[in-house]
Amino acid sequence: MLTAGTGIQQGAVLAMLRELSSTLSPATAESETRKRMSQGSKFLLAGVMGWPVMHSRSPKLHNYWLQHYGLAGSYVPLEIKQDQLEQALRALPVLNFAGCNLTIPHKETALRLVDSVDPVARRIGAVNTIVVGPNGQLEGRNTDAYGFISSVSSAQPEWHAGDRPIVVLGAGGGCRAVLTALIEAGAQEIWLANRNRARADALAQEFGPPIAVCDWSKRHEALDEAGLLVNTTSLGMLGQPPLDIVLRTLPVTAIVCDIVYVPLETPLLAAARRRGNPTVDGLGMLLHQARPAFEAWFGVLPDVTPALRTMMEATL
Ligand SMILES: NC(=O)c1ccc[n+]([C@@H]2O[C@H](COP(=O)([O-])OP(=O)(O)OC[C@H]3O[C@@H](n4cnc5c(N)ncnc54)[C@H](OP(=O)(O)O)[C@@H]3O)[C@@H](O)[C@H]2O)c1
Repeated sequence: MLTAGTGIQQGAVLAMLRELSSTLSPATAESETRKRMSQGSKFLLAGVMGWPVMHSRSPKLHNYWLQHYGLAGSYVPLEIKQDQLEQALRALPVLNFAGCNLTIPHKETALRLVDSVDPVARRIGAVNTIVVGPNGQLEGRNTDAYGFISSVSSAQPEWHAGDRPIVVLGAGGGCRAVLTALIEAGAQEIWLANRNRARADALAQEFGPPIAVCDWSKRHEALDEAGLLVNTTSLGMLGQPPLDIVLRTLPVTAIVCDIVYVPLETPLLAAARRRGNPTVDGLGMLLHQARPAFEAWFGVLPDVTPALRTMMEATL
């Protein structure tokens, strides 16, 4: 095993969930949406802005919950070009939208267009959720860190971030959310490996301890004491080559997590399952990240149930 400096944070996953949850769903927005619902006269509206956007699975997910909880409303795909994002966002309060999600290419641009950005979104460097406030102000949030840690914790309740070293592969947008979540959850030692080493070095410098960078060529060697391995690269995704990693030294008790969710079982997860490692797929993160957004808009914290997973799996 490679050795790293000790981390600076201790903390339980549940405490982190509570903190992230409260950051992501401030009482003001919740009470506002509850008030809106209790008025009973308004059709609830939210959507996802992207270009392209029709590939997004968010409408299926949020419309399932709207129907499940008996709420009159709709969540719609909104095809918005890059240079029209500001206009589109400013139209949300006029159109009586509770908010929206953002997908490619808008997540980073939105940081400078909204009226306020929550600390988690600021740390991740991207906004995936907009909440319209009582006076039409726009708040930018990011629910991906919450989604990641909730997905791992609900699939593997015994896991604690601080117990054993963690290996994270990648350095892109998804990786920033995963690192944010792991550090908040009390990770003591995170080995980060990315093909482009400079990007990993920059992330380690920005996020600080407990991250240590491991060269991409040495990623296999970082596994021998790991309690969690997370793939945040796009390798293994449909149309991409599989992730090339030798799991031989990975303890069989280590959790293997892939944030890629198409296919649901990536070649990495299949290899991990065959050798007996517990696995967590990327669909869990996608489902869990939507919960605090739905709550902030509509006042109900929805559940991730087996029926919801089955419905969403059919869309992959
Ligand atoms: N489950 C969820 O809710 C969720 C959330 C976010 C993302 N995702 C998924 O996570 C994946 C990554 O998304 P992202 O937004 O983080 O992408 P991104 O910002 O474009 O980053 C892509 C990452 O993959 C690495 N990579 C790409 N091709 C590679 C190759 N041939 N060899 C080695 N490394 C390679 C890149 O390394 P370099 O820096 O060296 O280019 C980079 O670290 C996607 O499949 C996305 O769908 C899932």
